[in-house]
Amino acid sequence: MNFTPRFLICVALSLVVSSLAADRKDVNYDEDKVNMAPLPDPLVLNNGKPVTSASAWKNRRRPEILELFRTHVYGRSPGKPKGMKFAVTGLDHLALDGRATRKEVTVYFTGQKDGPQMTILLYVPSGAKQPAPAFLGCNFGGNHAVSADPGITLSKQWMRPNKDKGVVNNQATEASRGTEASRWAVEKILARGYALATIYYGDVEPDFAEGWKLGVRAALGKDGADTQWKPDDWGAISAWAWGLSRALDYLERDRDIDAKHVAVIGHSRLGKTSLWAGAQDERFALVISNDSGEGGAALARRNYGETTAIITTAFPHWFCDNFDQYANNAPALPVDQHELIALMAPRPVYVASAEDDKWADPRGEFLSAKNAEPVYALFKKGGLGVSDQPPVNHPVGDFIGYHLRTGKHDVTDYDWEQYLNFADRHFKRGK
Ligand code: GCU
Repeated sequence: MNFTPRFLICVALSLVVSSLAADRKDVNYDEDKVNMAPLPDPLVLNNGKPVTSASAWKNRRRPEILELFRTHVYGRSPGKPKGMKFAVTGLDHLALDGRATRKEVTVYFTGQKDGPQMTILLYVPSGAKQPAPAFLGCNFGGNHAVSADPGITLSKQWMRPNKDKGVVNNQATEASRGTEASRWAVEKILARGYALATIYYGDVEPDFAEGWKLGVRAALGKDGADTQWKPDDWGAISAWAWGLSRALDYLERDRDIDAKHVAVIGHSRLGKTSLWAGAQDERFALVISNDSGEGGAALARRNYGETTAIITTAFPHWFCDNFDQYANNAPALPVDQHELIALMAPRPVYVASAEDDKWADPRGEFLSAKNAEPVYALFKKGGLGVSDQPPVNHPVGDFIGYHLRTGKHDVTDYDWEQYLNFADRHFKRGK
């Protein structure tokens, strides 16, 4: 792939803008100054009438809220492309010292081998007697970064430059193998009987302002890299979420996988992505947000840590163009993020925060989960079961799970243990 000077300048600029955002002095970290406007009520229809039954939620209110998120926040995605094809391009039944079968599956979005494509890395636990339930998520550093397993194909896609992680001139080198491994708990997941499927988000769209020109948004658009975006056309989060749904299309065909029990998971911007994927695609049986923050689980109306003003300046390409108008006016948004969580109902959803991840507004993430409870109640499903944010390392919840972990913005084994327990409970495993 050729990286023109223009692309490289855009990447550099977006990195500078995002680091400036993180250092801003005007960011509020004082709970007394949060000044939150009232939240929109998920149980009131656009016409002002109340929603009082699960069926009214499903048939009337849920489609309304989904439509509001499409129009004002993430943008509208296309469906499954015609002619999409899958090919198993890597297979090893004795991967990870015999603990797993490793598959690499290339997804040709338009059926053309030289067209847009992504590669799914899939580990299935060895010796499973039945199709395995699975976790599916996007990764930041390429499939080869998820594990040091030398059999994983090294990604050739655009990567954010990072010498410490073995990425030089926007390309992964051998040194980048396993650099994201601490975030994936592969052995633990397999030992608990789950498969793990992951895709590199940069296969779907490289993450910088003009990255869409190298990704599916251009490849599937009729005007390619000359596309003029409509205000509600899909942004990058929608594109990545779309990639997750395409990966699920594959998992549905793989006999080793129990596709009725696939949990979609993501961290940070990819946690925003897992939430949006789970909201739109009800085939995901369980949805997990790890430290997703602004534009993810955190309430937009709270002025704490990152805000709509900051995120739309640093990462405008993540959202649809309409979202810009709320940059300094979150109270005007017709939705807030508790309604994104509510879109998962009645499926189990888990929101996780980290104590030192103030940028992501842990309390705002908790309050989103809390304010989704009335929708779960319509389905007679228990929510968090607590009225206030629990102490650190104290997971809570029934169909809405939550924990505040000690430590920083990251995905740790502690997080995974909670997700595995939550999935066991809801997928009725591990009894
Ligand atoms: C930045 C951004 C966050 C995002 C995070 C990440 O910090 O401001 O919104 O979640 O990057 O994806 O790592």
